[in-house]
Amino acid sequence: MSILEEKFNEFEKRSKEAELGGGKVRLEKQKNAGKKTARQRIELLLDKGTFIEFDKFVVHTTSDFDMDKNKITGDGVITGHGKIDGRSVYVFSQDFTVFGGSLSRANANKIIKIMDTAMKMGAPIIGLNDSGGARIQEGVASLAGYADIFIRNTKASGVIPQISAILGPCAGGAVYSPAITDFILMTKQTSYMFVTGPDVIKTVTHEEVTKEELGGANTHNSKSGVAHLIADDDAQAMMMLRELISFLPSNNLEDPPMKPTNDPIDREDEDLQEIVPVDPNKPYNMKDIIETIVDDKIFFEIMPLYAQNIIIGYARMAGKTVGFVANQPQVSAGVLDIDSSIKAARFVRFCDAFNIPIVTMVDVPGFLPGTIQEFGGIIKHGAKLLYAFSEATVPKITLITRKAYGGAYDVMSSKHIGADVNFAYPTAEIAVMGAEGAVNILFRNIKDIDEKAKIVEDYKQKFANPYKAAELGYIDEIIYPKETRKKIIQALDMTKNKSQKNPQKKHGNIPL
Ligand code: HXC
Repeated sequence: MSILEEKFNEFEKRSKEAELGGGKVRLEKQKNAGKKTARQRIELLLDKGTFIEFDKFVVHTTSDFDMDKNKITGDGVITGHGKIDGRSVYVFSQDFTVFGGSLSRANANKIIKIMDTAMKMGAPIIGLNDSGGARIQEGVASLAGYADIFIRNTKASGVIPQISAILGPCAGGAVYSPAITDFILMTKQTSYMFVTGPDVIKTVTHEEVTKEELGGANTHNSKSGVAHLIADDDAQAMMMLRELISFLPSNNLEDPPMKPTNDPIDREDEDLQEIVPVDPNKPYNMKDIIETIVDDKIFFEIMPLYAQNIIIGYARMAGKTVGFVANQPQVSAGVLDIDSSIKAARFVRFCDAFNIPIVTMVDVPGFLPGTIQEFGGIIKHGAKLLYAFSEATVPKITLITRKAYGGAYDVMSSKHIGADVNFAYPTAEIAVMGAEGAVNILFRNIKDIDEKAKIVEDYKQKFANPYKAAELGYIDEIIYPKETRKKIIQALDMTKNKSQKNPQKKHGNIPL
């Protein structure tokens, strides 16, 4: 064998070793747990054959606990870059078969390197998390590695999209890197996130809870609001990440990518004409309106299981990404409460940071009254949404379909807080409150039922319509429901070169 052949053989041997991760037995265990391997996940995520790996031969540098005799090439994380729909993304994929995917100093350095490169090149970073947390054998060196990642997550926030998939355990401080990123996706039954696990909880608070109940995908998608997306398994998760990325620009200086469509921009939908019930107390599904008006009826909902009284998500109109924020009359009459305010506020801020126009659909009876809400701080949480809409300088289009009452009228991207185009359906009711409530306050001394009913009717005639607001110029145009798609696309076109800046400052102080 020539010297050259020997060198090539050694390269191949080492390369294969790295690709084997923690070995066949552990890979089999990973498969039996219903999970793909770290490398398979990358293959599913990226366009075929586009992955370019960095730092394949990195090993850890610890000798404590006899670790110098236990080195695995790659050290538990696969890092590099590749393409999604032909656009660059940076990826790290933790390999649970190597020391439980735990974070060593060397392993953290690999992640840091691609985070820094992603920032330099202005491309999104996607973390595929499957890790037992800090590498126990390395102690504080591992904690330092985490902190080095946290600070980079923070600096990258609002500059490049950062997306985390949780595909296995994610415990301790390890949850905080994903928490700083823009989106968290979790897989059902195979992933969990918590700051302290069931055993610690039992000792400290005497509560008994399973891992799944405490921090499984359902818990974080429907109860805590920590996660934004839920997938049945790894394969579906990777498809969802691809779809999410397709709506987003690569960085904050770019516009989102265009996706040409054959869906006519002036398509009218007769179905919409009667979608809003005449009876103001009758619910309807706001998602039906969104799905009807967007390109090819494709709406990618974010946080579909959490605070369902508000809907957020992405779609395209005339090929361009649009972020939707919409009250959902079908759930708690679309009322604004703590959870829905926080959910929508963070979404609005993401859209604003990444040049995504916001379409707001309004049917809101107001803020939810009650001690639970007040003690929970609805004042400061509701203010988050008000703040987020007020500071957003991207194009903002608002459509009031039915109720827009009280403070919630102001908050839901009203003209007064900077919306560019405000539409209303003829069915809109824009007032301080509903007719019955208003009459009960203003005419509390009138006991005669018939007399009261007449006053309510009078109030409705006067105020439960869009015309008062239109008279004052707070609504730019009253439109037929069937022409919603066309009208919103026209408004998006009108605002496409919008250039607005907030006053210079270090940063604002959103009520947290
Ligand atoms: C080193 C680890 C490890 C870790 C797991 N392994 N976690 N090695 N450091 N943190 C190794 C195991 O020794 C084992 O090695 C292999 O990974 C698989 O682990 P198992 O326990 O067999 O797997 P499983 O039964 O599926 O349980 C997974 C697990 C459990 C729930 C994650 O391993 C576990 O509880 N690990 C410790 C979690 C933890 O406390 N981490 C520190 C959190 S604190 P072999 O050789 O047998 O295959 C933290 C601080 C961060 O992260 C602070 C940042 C601010």
